[in-house]
This record gives sequence, C-alpha cells and structure tokens, in this order.
Amino acid sequence: MNKVSKLLKALGLILQRPALLNLILKDEEVLQRTFEKEFPHIKLQQMDPFGWPEAQQLTIAPYAFLSGSSMVTDFAFLQLACRKYQVETYLEIGTWRGESAANVAPFVKEVFTLNLPDHTLLQMGMSQAYIDSHRFFSKDLANVQHLFGDSATFDWTPYQQNCDLIFIDGDHSTEAVQRDTETALRLRKTEKSILVWHDAKSDGEYPRYEVLLGIYRALPKELHQNLYLVKHALCAVYLPEGAEASAIQINALPNRQFELGLKNVNI
Ligand SMILES: C[S@@+](CC[C@H](N)C(=O)[O-])C[C@H]1O[C@@H](n2cnc3c(N)ncnc32)[C@H](O)[C@@H]1O
Repeated sequence: MNKVSKLLKALGLILQRPALLNLILKDEEVLQRTFEKEFPHIKLQQMDPFGWPEAQQLTIAPYAFLSGSSMVTDFAFLQLACRKYQVETYLEIGTWRGESAANVAPFVKEVFTLNLPDHTLLQMGMSQAYIDSHRFFSKDLANVQHLFGDSATFDWTPYQQNCDLIFIDGDHSTEAVQRDTETALRLRKTEKSILVWHDAKSDGEYPRYEVLLGIYRALPKELHQNLYLVKHALCAVYLPEGAEASAIQINALPNRQFELGLKNVNI
C-alpha cells in the first residue's frame, strides 16, 4: 500500500472511530519529541539503588506475578528507599491489590494508600473481579490505612507536610501525573522527603515519556537535577540528597546480575 492509500485508509478509520487519534497523540515517539522540545536541556539520568549496602539481601513479599504487577525490582526499590532514608510515613496514590503497600509496610511506621472507591470503579465499567482484587494484600495489615477518593479531588489537608515518601502510581496519563506530583510536593514533610513515580519507564531500560512529561512539568526547575530513573526498575525518583548517576544507555551490557528464589506462600 502506498503512502497516499495508507493516509486515506487511516483518515477513514479515524472518522469512523475518532478515539483512534489518541493512539497517535499518545504514541511514545510523539511524546518523546514533545518532551525534547519542552525540555531541551534535560539529559535523562539513572541511579542504581542495587549497589547500596542495604540491597545485599532483599525479600519481596507478597508478589502475585499477575497482570499489572510491578516488577520485583520496583518493590525492592521502595523497600530500599524506606530503609535507607528511615521513612516513617509512606503515602501512595494507587492501591489496587495492595502489593506495593504490603511490601513497604514492614519497613515503615505507617502506610496511607489512596484509591478510587469501589463504586466509582463500578461506574467506570470495571469488572467485579477487578474491583474485588483491590486491597487483597493490604486489607489486614495493622499499619496500613486505606483512603478512598479521586486523587484530583481528595481532601489532602490532613496529610500535608506529613509524608517522608510519596509513591505516585494511580492514573498514568501526563495530566494526572502532573497533578498528582503537584499534590505530592505539598505532602512532603520536609525538603528531604522523597518522591517516587511508577511506570516512568516502559521496561527495565526505556523511558516512558507520557509519565516523564507530567513529572517534569510539575517539578520546579531547581529539583530537576535530582530526578533519576531507577536502574533495573520502572520507577523514577526525586532524591533530595542526590545520588551517583549515569546517562541512560539502551542495550548496555548488564552491570550486575540477580539471583531469584521463588517460594510458594499459602494464602
Ligand atoms: C497501577 S495500580 C496501583 C498498583 C499498586 N501501587 C501496586 O504496585 O501494588 C493503579 C491504581 O490506581 C487507581 N487509580 C487510578 N486513577 C486514580 C485516581 N485518580 N485517584 C485514585 N486512584 C486512582 C486505580 O483504580 C488502580 O487501582
């Protein structure tokens, strides 16, 4: 098919289903170009928490290996950050199964985790099975408090200037990430508080510009230099005290290897 026929076919399909336009507008290549135009001086950098002494021995539990699960290394990174920076109050946007909440709970004093309420998920047309999976791992944990609401309209007043680490893992659209990051900045207990975003990479190596655009738009310029992608994981992190960093290099030779043991735990 030549280019003109392809264009006509594409236009026909878009006229029939205008929502298809989102596939173009949300295409990572398009978003990367937008990012590079908007932030021409930013050179994405990565830090490697798996070189920290705390990373010698890690246990990730619980881990479901189900659709939408974070990578093992994401939960490992959250645990490591909580331990290294002695996080007491951890707050996250996006509970789902409660997997991230349950992974950090043993290492902090209190966990607050916010999610859209079940009835909202139902109104949005989500399946009952998906809704029922919410809070599965976190519902019985003594130091986990579940909060319900839309992060855009939730009353954050009681949590402002109260949190040591804020994990943003709700709606991953650029606009929502920008809004949640602006909220997270207000939730920081001190200037030393840490921000972590999930899905700032699309896999262990590639950046995800849809999320990065939201982060960089929300963070004040002077904080940009301490923003890192997390090596081996999908997270990005703002570390106020800085970290050893390197440039992103796709298809680099592995600089470390891990050994995983799997243990089947009764539910
Ligand atoms: C990727 S999942 C969270 C996974 C969880 N952090 C983990 O690692 O185990 C995202 C969750 O955010 C919720 N969510 C999406 N948009 C939201 C919003 N605006 N406010 C609150 N929760 C939201 C969804 O219902 C979904 O359960």
